[in-house]
Amino acid sequence: CHGTPKLYEVFDKDFFIGAAVNTSTIKSHDELLKHHFNSITAENEMKFENVHPAENKYTFDQADQIVAFANDQGKNIRGHTLVWHNQTPAWVFENEEGTNISRSMLLERMASHMESIIGRYKGKVYSWDVVNEAVSDKSGEFLRPSPWLKTIGEDYIAKAFEYARQIDPDTLLFYNDYNEFVPEKRDKIYRLVKSIVDKDIPIDGIGLQGHWNLEFPSIDLIRRGIEKYASLGLQLHITELDISVFSHDDKRTDVKQPSEDMLIRQAERYQEIFSLFKEYRDHLTSVTFWGVADDDTWLDNFPVRGRKNWPFLFDELHQPKQSFWEIVKLARQA
Ligand code: G3I
Repeated sequence: CHGTPKLYEVFDKDFFIGAAVNTSTIKSHDELLKHHFNSITAENEMKFENVHPAENKYTFDQADQIVAFANDQGKNIRGHTLVWHNQTPAWVFENEEGTNISRSMLLERMASHMESIIGRYKGKVYSWDVVNEAVSDKSGEFLRPSPWLKTIGEDYIAKAFEYARQIDPDTLLFYNDYNEFVPEKRDKIYRLVKSIVDKDIPIDGIGLQGHWNLEFPSIDLIRRGIEKYASLGLQLHITELDISVFSHDDKRTDVKQPSEDMLIRQAERYQEIFSLFKEYRDHLTSVTFWGVADDDTWLDNFPVRGRKNWPFLFDELHQPKQSFWEIVKLARQA
């Protein structure tokens, strides 16, 4: 990294550049993390199934390692995530006989889970994704029919935010979702968050995941979404940014290296996207990448298992790509 500008330092000091990590990458990617990022998120290690696999069993070891790394290095921590339909063990929704529990019982379990994890990292995690992906992708359906919704009802979301605020009055509370710039879903996310704001339920921001590719979403769609979300007067975070080199319906499995064209197009995309982010700097306070470098990304298994992808600013050898230099150049322009 020596001689390469520090990515977070090319932005103003209150703007956070983050990376999702795991207990391996805090070692294998430590140089890049120390040099370029001022915020850290656990990719999986703070999720329900990871920290709370059984009712009276908490396993914080891996999350603790990530928090210790961030603390030692003076990095901020974005917490991910408290209430989600995925990576949440079945026991949460069932009694000992394996049948569904009552609304009040599930609210109690939600609260006690949140108390344990928010409480443990109080003063260390500066913002939490309190509720993740509650909005449905299906046309005409508002909320995802998750066990949270089915057992508690629509107010499970409001309750989660209220509990979070009671447990830690100082951490920032976010609603986080994907496909956030697809018009119908964008409008549903807006409607959900607006209803929270209108009821004076505590919420500080909206997390826009940013799992994008070389074509989608267009800059125009991203702009329209940011405008709409920003009108709610909350902070916006880009929480899980990666730019796949494959378009949505490209399911090829025989691509062993990214082509020159892909990398050029990716650099243009990063340039256009960060240029838009710069315009909305008053609202947008953080961008987290969903990984560190191209040798380790969840996209290697999605949507095609075992197909390599190259979505980040650093290549498989941890060298800065053209995408990195485009962002640095842009940030330095007045
Ligand atoms: O830990 C086990 C390992 O022991 C086992 O050998 C291996 C075999 O498949 O699986 C490992 O668990 C995997 C885990 O990641 C850790 O690598 C799971 O199968 C796999 O499903 C899990 O995927 C994670 C995914 O969330 C699951 O929902 C990805 O790493 C993680 O990047 C992804 O992150 C989500 C965000 O939380 C929310 N937004 C979307 C984003 C991408 O899907």
